[in-house]
Amino acid sequence: MKVPVKSILVITPDAAVSQAIGSALGGDPGLKVETKASSLTQLNGKAVKFAQEHDFIIFDTDPGNEADLHAIEELARDRREGVILLALTSSDISLAAARKLTRAGVDEVLPYPITGAELTEQLDRLRARATPEVVKGGAGARIGRLIAVAQARGGSGATTVALNLADALTGKGGFLHKADKHKVALVDFDLQFGTIGSALDLDEQDTLLKLAQDGTVPDIRFLEQSMATLPGGLSVLPAPSKFAPVDALRADQVAAILDLLRQTNDYVVVDLPRALVGWVEPVIEQTDELLIVTDLAVPSVRHARRLMDFFKTVNIGLQTTVVLNRESRPLIRSGVHKEAAAALNSKLEFWLPVDEKAARAAVDQGKPLSAVASRSPLTKAIGHLAKAITKALPAAARVGASR
Ligand SMILES: Nc1ncnc2c1ncn2[C@@H]1O[C@H](COP(=O)(O)OP(=O)(O)OP(=O)(O)O)[C@@H](O)[C@H]1O
Ligand SMILES: [Mg+2]
Repeated sequence: MKVPVKSILVITPDAAVSQAIGSALGGDPGLKVETKASSLTQLNGKAVKFAQEHDFIIFDTDPGNEADLHAIEELARDRREGVILLALTSSDISLAAARKLTRAGVDEVLPYPITGAELTEQLDRLRARATPEVVKGGAGARIGRLIAVAQARGGSGATTVALNLADALTGKGGFLHKADKHKVALVDFDLQFGTIGSALDLDEQDTLLKLAQDGTVPDIRFLEQSMATLPGGLSVLPAPSKFAPVDALRADQVAAILDLLRQTNDYVVVDLPRALVGWVEPVIEQTDELLIVTDLAVPSVRHARRLMDFFKTVNIGLQTTVVLNRESRPLIRSGVHKEAAAALNSKLEFWLPVDEKAARAAVDQGKPLSAVASRSPLTKAIGHLAKAITKALPAAARVGASR
């Protein structure tokens, strides 16, 4: 198949940057590279015009500069359908700064300096996400946001958070703004110990096991047919009901599953496995927000920190959010809270209280919390988390939708 030529516009006043990108990408016959020796703000609104003519816009930016952020917002708002925005920033950018950029509408934050190999790898991935074949749905095809959920220790509540967050993100539980109704997919990648299927009382099905055994890369029809859809619209890919070795999946299969689900959903929520197998890497590479579910016990906090550090070696711009489960928000923070906040480099914004009654009712009835205890403190706290996520990561990058 002939690969269509994609055109890239590089906007930077720094000749060294444009030269480095030009020589990294110049040899690729599938890419046409054009450069504007200017900053985004110097283009003074003209960037929007250029955005009509190119598939990728790469620009260097300083997230501390409000004018830059404003220019990015404009560009993101008025871009032609399918145009992907990549921001180059210094490699020691803080998480808060990276988050500012994605909030403004950037699809990918790339730390600079970046090697040619890294840059082409990122572009290939984004290109695969937005090829005409996959956006053939025209208006409404999506590039969904990926939220991965990890646990600081066994039983810390990661599955409860993943499942009920996915449910809340659909918008049907009344947690979000009335107009915010989202398509959401929930994937149980806890291959060996996954409990989402039973927590939602789904029929046993072994899509992931079949993929592992056949070694095939799925297409969207296969995935959609094998996913269960709940009444509220949440679609679910459960873990196999039979035993599967934890390394049974390959990284390219996992990457394909996520790519496909992101094209058809506004949000994809992934319950991660306990083991850090190789195929977790593509999940983390694509993750927009990693939630680490923990409690305040010292070993949990330490493990949460180690996990964060490890995942950031895979995805340097990874945004992480700490979710404290079975912990009520304190009125006044004690030394323990302050130490945890420092160790996790987090403001500790999300607290989910102990709520045995609601948790038990949900498990017993095989339904999300919103269906069995919509007003319980735990349901509300997860709704609050969903709202914060939709604010930080609006379901904005919809390819082809007029916004
Ligand atoms: N805030 C809470 N209040 C009361 N019970 C909770 C709360 N959070 C989770 N639970 C319960 O604790 C148990 C473990 O939760 P869950 O399965 O979500 O944890 P996990 O981190 O995914 O565990 P695993 O290591 O098995 O993957 C479940 O029975 C769940 O209903
Ligand atoms: Mg679990």
